[in-house]
Amino acid sequence: MKPLSRRNLLKAGALVAAAPVPWTWSPKGSVAGTGAGADPRWVWDSEADPLVASLIDRGDVPRVNALLRTWTKNGQPLPDGLPADLRDFMTRARQLPPWTDQRKLATAVTFNQKRGLYLGVLYGLASGMMSTVIPKEARAVYYSQGGADMKDRISKTAKLGYDIGAVSAYQPDGEMIVTGVKTRLVHAAVRHLLPQSPYWAQVADEDIPISQRDIMVTWHSLPTTVMQKLAAWRVPIPAAESEAFLHSWQVGAHLLGVRDEYIPASWDEANTQAAQVLDPVLAPTPEGIKLADILLNLGSSIDLGILSKPVLGAFTRFMLGDEIAGWLRIPREPVWDPLLRTAWGPFIAVREGLLPFPLAPEAYWLFDEFLRRAALLFLSEARPISIEIPVTNRPT
Ligand code: HEM
Repeated sequence: MKPLSRRNLLKAGALVAAAPVPWTWSPKGSVAGTGAGADPRWVWDSEADPLVASLIDRGDVPRVNALLRTWTKNGQPLPDGLPADLRDFMTRARQLPPWTDQRKLATAVTFNQKRGLYLGVLYGLASGMMSTVIPKEARAVYYSQGGADMKDRISKTAKLGYDIGAVSAYQPDGEMIVTGVKTRLVHAAVRHLLPQSPYWAQVADEDIPISQRDIMVTWHSLPTTVMQKLAAWRVPIPAAESEAFLHSWQVGAHLLGVRDEYIPASWDEANTQAAQVLDPVLAPTPEGIKLADILLNLGSSIDLGILSKPVLGAFTRFMLGDEIAGWLRIPREPVWDPLLRTAWGPFIAVREGLLPFPLAPEAYWLFDEFLRRAALLFLSEARPISIEIPVTNRPT
């Protein structure tokens, strides 16, 4: 008899899954400006998925990974020796969309340079910790090959945050196009592999992971959440820079294989879509709690000082709120919790030149040091790593 997995129970009608919020977001608000408006919950990657499944089944992946290790820069030709079907796909997939605005991408570089310090902590602790309370993502990450070595995985994922913010991100000597296309291949591999994991199958309430809706959910945990936090902290951002940051992520979504009709054209549209698809799905899972714990321990394994687990936990609570901190079993911190609540706002105001001098100099220097170390941890540590197509799931 088949084991009574959650999926089997669902199929048998014994469990009622929490129905996803209906998709009503209009493609009129997308970069395409038009589209059928079908729920991206049922859209995956019709080009990459069969191709990568076939690479895995043909046993080509180790050879392909070895070849792709040498392909690191956007402007570099594809390595010789790739299977013809993969080469054809990658030749198309590496093209920037026709709506790419190079001027905006240049302004995004300015923004990333000016705001790099904030972005480190935001990508790492706001986006990174939020990903642990997105159940489908937490489960997919936990039970995939990379889930067995979370430190390595986190640095690979952080590579994307680094590459998209680098000076030459989308330029020929940058790496973001390469990272985007490789990640698209990895996601396609996960769609093929994860359904074969008995562990994933027991907890998942779907047959194929990483739908385009899921990618947009995660996307909102990144730029949308980052921009919402910067606004909440009252960091002054010129409209052109804010739009440019959005644009760099719109192009990023396209490279990950998201259809243009699902990519929001403006922050208003992004916020509307996020309220519909991200906010309602946030919830704890055993897998997410374990991943969050690993993430919180990451700092102290590298830096014995300010990036300790209690400090990263307090920061997570400050950014994501008591409910999420509770889900992730993050303890309250008697010193750091109130300090962040009272002194972070003035700290930002001083840093941004909106207040004349530090009201609380000690907190000021502490916070500044924290930002610097966190940016190093979550962005720079990521550089030398190559993203590879997995061939298995997490073994246990
Ligand atoms: C792999 C980024 C959405 C699950 C990766 C990698 C990157 C990345 C850079 C390569 C790192 C590695 O090999 O470990 C992103 C971005 C997303 C997104 C920027 C959205 C904007 C998602 C979603 C899911 C997911 C929605 C699941 C629901 C995974 C898994 C891996 C992976 C399971 C492979 C881990 C492994 O076995 O190595 N992603 N991802 N990702 N991603 Fe995503």
